Amino acid sequence: MQGDGRADAVTGIAAANRGLDRAGLAVTTTGLEERLCSAEAGWLDLHVSEVAACDLLMVAARAEALAFEAKGVRLTLGPGASARTVVVDPDRMQEVLVNLLGNALRHTPAGGQVQLSARSSAGGVAITVRDSGDGIAAEHLPRVFERFYRVDDGRSRGVGGSGIGLAIARVLTEGHGGHIRAESAGAGKGASFVVTLPARGPDPKGR
Ligand SMILES: Nc1ncnc2c1ncn2[C@@H]1O[C@H](COP(=O)(O)OP(=O)(O)OP(=O)(O)O)[C@@H](O)[C@H]1O
Ligand SMILES: [Mg+2]
Repeated sequence: MQGDGRADAVTGIAAANRGLDRAGLAVTTTGLEERLCSAEAGWLDLHVSEVAACDLLMVAARAEALAFEAKGVRLTLGPGASARTVVVDPDRMQEVLVNLLGNALRHTPAGGQVQLSARSSAGGVAITVRDSGDGIAAEHLPRVFERFYRVDDGRSRGVGGSGIGLAIARVLTEGHGGHIRAESAGAGKGASFVVTLPARGPDPKGR
């Protein structure tokens, strides 16, 4: 089925992405780009269900906990907007969050901190991955979601991947009717990535 093929393409990109290093980039990017293009142009075969926002956070944090421990970066779970549910494909949203946590870990030196949290917002539920790491200079912020875009400053040189993770995260988030944005006060000042998803149920005050 065409739809299944496209969904597989996105999963395949992510899987390839995880194993990719800079040395392998030249031979693999063409295939990755084609597959990402087809996912962007087509539709995602999402298997949605109603999921508590806090469960999404917990599962993602558990999946990444060991990697954080190994590097000596503290991963904390902030408020989880627990009374609200989002209608998502849990596997795909995990892919988005794991991607963001992986970036945060890569760009945060040992001794730093990353927080995963969710809050109710006008647009639904806003899930934030905030790190205390390298940060992103203003001129790069609008471009980090472009495929293959990497900020190649002194700090990040040699530690990056293929520059496709955020492009995939954007396709998957927008496929759920949500949006994703990056914020940073500048180089050296940490970064936040905010994924806003449409929410079900009332917006409880103060969450
Ligand atoms: N938390 C972050 N802090 C600082 N810079 C970041 C952060 N997340 C992403 N970036 C910058 O945005 C660029 C694009 O991120 P993206 O996830 O698309 O690619 P990547 O992590 O380099 O490679 P890949 O995800 O394909 O392994 C990164 O190369 C990095 O320069
Ligand atoms: Mg990445």
